[in-house]
Amino acid sequence: MTESRPAVDMEKLVSLCRRRGFIFPSSEIYGGLSSCWDYGPLGVELKRNIKQAWWRAVVQQRDDMVGLDASILMHPQVWQASGHVEGFSDPLVECKSCHKRWRSDELEGDKCPDCGGELTEPKLFNLMFKTFIGPVEDEASVVYLRPETAQGMFVNFENVVNTTRKRLPFGIAQIGKSFRNEVTTGNFIFRCREFEQMEIEFFVKPGTDKQWFDYWVEERLNWYVSLGIRKENLKLRQHTKEELAHYARECYDINYLYPMGWAEMEGIANRGDFDLVQHAKFSGKGLSYYDEETKEHIVPYIIEPSAGVDRTALAVLCDAYDEDVADGEPRVLLHLHPSIAPIKVAVLPLSRKETLAPLSKEVYAELRQQWMTSFDEAQSIGRRYRRQDEIGTPFCVTIDFQSLEDKQVTIRERDSLRQIRVPIEGLRATLQAKLDGEDLFVLPEGGKIWKGGETQ
Ligand code: GAP
Repeated sequence: MTESRPAVDMEKLVSLCRRRGFIFPSSEIYGGLSSCWDYGPLGVELKRNIKQAWWRAVVQQRDDMVGLDASILMHPQVWQASGHVEGFSDPLVECKSCHKRWRSDELEGDKCPDCGGELTEPKLFNLMFKTFIGPVEDEASVVYLRPETAQGMFVNFENVVNTTRKRLPFGIAQIGKSFRNEVTTGNFIFRCREFEQMEIEFFVKPGTDKQWFDYWVEERLNWYVSLGIRKENLKLRQHTKEELAHYARECYDINYLYPMGWAEMEGIANRGDFDLVQHAKFSGKGLSYYDEETKEHIVPYIIEPSAGVDRTALAVLCDAYDEDVADGEPRVLLHLHPSIAPIKVAVLPLSRKETLAPLSKEVYAELRQQWMTSFDEAQSIGRRYRRQDEIGTPFCVTIDFQSLEDKQVTIRERDSLRQIRVPIEGLRATLQAKLDGEDLFVLPEGGKIWKGGETQ
């Protein structure tokens, strides 16, 4: 097995993300807002592709899952029932000299790590953001920005059962923003105050929960591998009894080897019947399920694979980052899996001469129908290849003067630098096959391996 090592240091990655328009600090012209980030033109595509890959794997391709998009603001009692009002807090201490605040459970000594000052006694600090609903700002109108998407799925359990006629085991999946007023921040988009989650609540018969828990741990781990993340940079970590959340019977984290070390990318918990029992108690509604086989009402157990979009984006970027030498020049490249690469194809006319423009624009217009495609005619072909490599574009299509005669173009593969020359007719199908994983040298009719010529 290859040795595990962080693929890139964080500074390099942050710099690439800013330089190329993946991720910017939020409200940057005002100095930024701590732990809030804006996804730029490439970042938004990357994130959309990750979410789409997740949705396809856990909803579209399964017949035991349905989707949901619940509102961010929920009835305040939801957070009483879930335990968040009571227990979703970090213990905080304040330095009596410099007034900096710290999480006491993360401190090593009993002095301020910054100035060595004396610390106050720990006080619990709730991580939920509060706001008010309606025009009056009083205790009765307090609502919270949801700290997880999960609760929307628990409170809609009955609605989903009644409207879809799904039988156990089945799941509800949701992607959406969550908010936490985190005390410890930093490490780029790893810990944000506003972030996106991709959560599944999978409802099963009690007694089958262990089997489904194991199934989902395996399934979710494999999904990250399917995104192109190297196995040696992924690790499962079981929670000890002491660290289990109040609702969990068993929990595994899928950890990734980020630049700052191993850290959680997804948590998978067996929540038992905690959530449906709690919401039944607080709402007064019987949230049970009628089992046709045993003719009994049962409260399903819930298996919850809960992933973060931002942490997945960070992991795929870290894992894809590489530096090598191409055509005698150093290059930075992102080996992003084609399914998540922000731009799938770049169309590059060999020269800016007007004779190449009509055909190049035609090819560009055609490919844009199918994929996020970029068009670049500025500077030398070598520099343009480098620009695409740096943002992870899997294929470049080059149009040269010969293309005007033979109606063929060159496809260049990002990782191997190999090239083929193929007919423009059928180019979409050829590129689709390559994006789906077909070897570049499997040629379409009329195609050939390209070892030089005008595009070199
Ligand atoms: N419903 C269960 C739940 O929310 P969690 O472990 O607190 O569990 C699940 O969060 C996932 O959400 C984490 O594994 C992580 O990927 C993401 N996440 C949590 N807090 C985050 C934060 N402050 N910034 C970015 N992602 C976060």
